[in-house]
Amino acid sequence: MDNEGKNSGANVVPSEAEVAERVENLMGRMSLAEKIGQLTQIAGTPLFPGPEPEDVIRKGGAGSVLWLNDTKKFNALQKIAVEESPSKIPLLFALDVIHGYRTVFPVPLAMASSWDPSVAERAQAVAAKEARAAGLHWTFSPMLDIARDARWGRIVEGAGEDPCLGAAMAAAQVRGFQGESLGAPDRVLACAKHFAGYGAADGGRDYDPVYLPEGRLRNVYFPPFEAAVKAGVGTFMSAYMDLNDVPASGNRFLLRDVLRDEWGFQGFVVSDALAIGNLVIQGFARDGRDAAFRSLSAGVNMDMASDTYPQHLAGLVEDGTLQMSDIDAAVRPILAIKVRMGLFERPYTDESRLAQVVARPEHRQEARLAAQRSMVLLRNEGRLLPLHKDLKNVAVIGPLADSMEATEGSWMVFGHTPAAITVVEGIRARLPGARVEYAPGPEIRREIGSFFDDMPWAVKKDPQTAEQAEAAFQTAVATARSADLVVLVLGENADMAGEFASCTSLDLSGRQEELLEVVLALGKPVVLVLLNGRPLSIGWAAENVPAILEAWEPGSEGGHAVADILFGDVNPGGKLPVSFPRSGGHAPLYYARNLTHSPEGGRMYRSRYWDCPTTPLYPFGFGLSYTTFAITNLQVAALQIKVGSSVAVTADVTNTGPVLGDEVVQLYIHQKAGSDSRPLRELKGFERLTLKPGETKTVTFNLGPAELGYWSTNLGKWVQDAEAFDIWVGADSLATLHADLEVIR
Ligand code: NOJ
Repeated sequence: MDNEGKNSGANVVPSEAEVAERVENLMGRMSLAEKIGQLTQIAGTPLFPGPEPEDVIRKGGAGSVLWLNDTKKFNALQKIAVEESPSKIPLLFALDVIHGYRTVFPVPLAMASSWDPSVAERAQAVAAKEARAAGLHWTFSPMLDIARDARWGRIVEGAGEDPCLGAAMAAAQVRGFQGESLGAPDRVLACAKHFAGYGAADGGRDYDPVYLPEGRLRNVYFPPFEAAVKAGVGTFMSAYMDLNDVPASGNRFLLRDVLRDEWGFQGFVVSDALAIGNLVIQGFARDGRDAAFRSLSAGVNMDMASDTYPQHLAGLVEDGTLQMSDIDAAVRPILAIKVRMGLFERPYTDESRLAQVVARPEHRQEARLAAQRSMVLLRNEGRLLPLHKDLKNVAVIGPLADSMEATEGSWMVFGHTPAAITVVEGIRARLPGARVEYAPGPEIRREIGSFFDDMPWAVKKDPQTAEQAEAAFQTAVATARSADLVVLVLGENADMAGEFASCTSLDLSGRQEELLEVVLALGKPVVLVLLNGRPLSIGWAAENVPAILEAWEPGSEGGHAVADILFGDVNPGGKLPVSFPRSGGHAPLYYARNLTHSPEGGRMYRSRYWDCPTTPLYPFGFGLSYTTFAITNLQVAALQIKVGSSVAVTADVTNTGPVLGDEVVQLYIHQKAGSDSRPLRELKGFERLTLKPGETKTVTFNLGPAELGYWSTNLGKWVQDAEAFDIWVGADSLATLHADLEVIR
């Protein structure tokens, strides 16, 4: 297809007034049916029964298409929309591009471990470029749900447990996806999801109801979303679950009062997939008609694939339950975004472009850098790491050691073919002359399958028999026995974290723990590399395995990045964005909890469990390096400040060890008394610095009303109390370097 003519036209950012005028012009010629079409997103793949997309589009019955990943088909459908549909409005093609399109980046939880928002921004810029070259306009990303319960599988898609880190990662990802403005070339429209509270599902069970008081929502769960609005995110996705007994996709408080009225969001809201229709199943809406009415009234502009808006909105307008102005108000921001994105001028995609764009070596380089910066060194007894490059005989053992799927992680784009460098490959590339033997050991697999198993491209494999597993176990042990050093690569398969991937146990699944213990008993030096999408309870390893690297699901270049770190070409500097629990029963677990009347360490309690310490296995913000750092000279510019004013906090950080390295300096506060009880620590600033041996840098943080204020449950409003604060600056959430600050009236 020759699309060049249609695609030409400079990328000029239209003014507000121009956009509004063009939208009104379009609206003036659209029928009610076409307007409802713009509020409708249809599936481009026959995942669900329904009319052919071509027929719906030809009638103007769709504003957007999802679950399609095929450039030719995009152009063919777009041609129908812009040439044959009544008002010729181009379609938005949407897909989940979560951590890369063809070049796969570390999963979002890993990118948050970099504590370097520029890593996430650059990664998502590459993802945007590749996705756009494929013909996609819109990604359902970033996922901004705070997650404090490691049982919840979708913890992998977000930035972890903390609102401050989460907000920084949110804004960075929006900038990465969207660029300077919505029409920027090589960028895509971002979608802040899932609004809101989804990560706090009861029991960590995906989709279960969420009960969060307003203070918790505003102080913890909302900040990443508000940061996305400030960064200019074009769209939001409403979540599935009940929030305080009102489904998020029918929740006026979320979608109107907070999102639009308080934060001034001007873009549009799409429901999660089928969520509007599901309001009936959820026991909220009486029927489809009621569901359509309640979602639209609550503020959901676009129905993702549930077919509820197209079936019911016209009837609701015809009988006067809804006004035409309600429909118009929902349609306007969708058209405005299409205008801003330049879709009317450039509706098509050059079909030869994707191949050139994805082949760029700099994309792989960015992926390798992101993976290097995301990994967290959890243990390094006796300085086992970095390894010597003259090693001659290494065993790389474990079910994930050569798994491209686990290396790339969950949520690949539809139809993606795994192509990652695995850990075995990375180590082999690093030790060309050495003997590097690989044995997977017994397989690991989910006990209950996933929805994704039914996707057309899913690879089905029969489970190993007990005999096969035992033989694989023995081969792995024998392989380890014949080596001088063992790298065990354990953790989770890609389908063990993500959507539909909650679990009750955080232990290493299958026979991995047994394999680890038997291999360690061989008396060889052992390095444990974890590939996983959630914190795991690795208590035994934390005491017995000398070196542990949390590599997460590191993406296309994961194996190279692991080798870069294991052999010391790169000094690890990532830090945990989540507390590591000691067991599944430890969840939910987070550092920013309130004090109790009888805190641990006091006279009464050593732990509030009798079978396990309350403290995390590894604290939030923790991570080691091959060098050492000293953080000293904490200075708060004033002992007292007035409510509403700000103060600078500075500290010096020195690399006291032998090699170049990165430290993430973290600032925590605690308000000692106030209108409400406040968390015993809250992160309020961080900075990742690179220091040469002996070098010192000074970090400066600012504490002002935004950092010192909070939503008071007691008073039902935002407050800044005149109270005393503890301030800590350090290398993790247990930092001990302390200063006082008093806020006065
Ligand atoms: C359901 C998921 O909850 C959401 O995150 C995703 O964007 C949609 N499906 C579309 O694939």
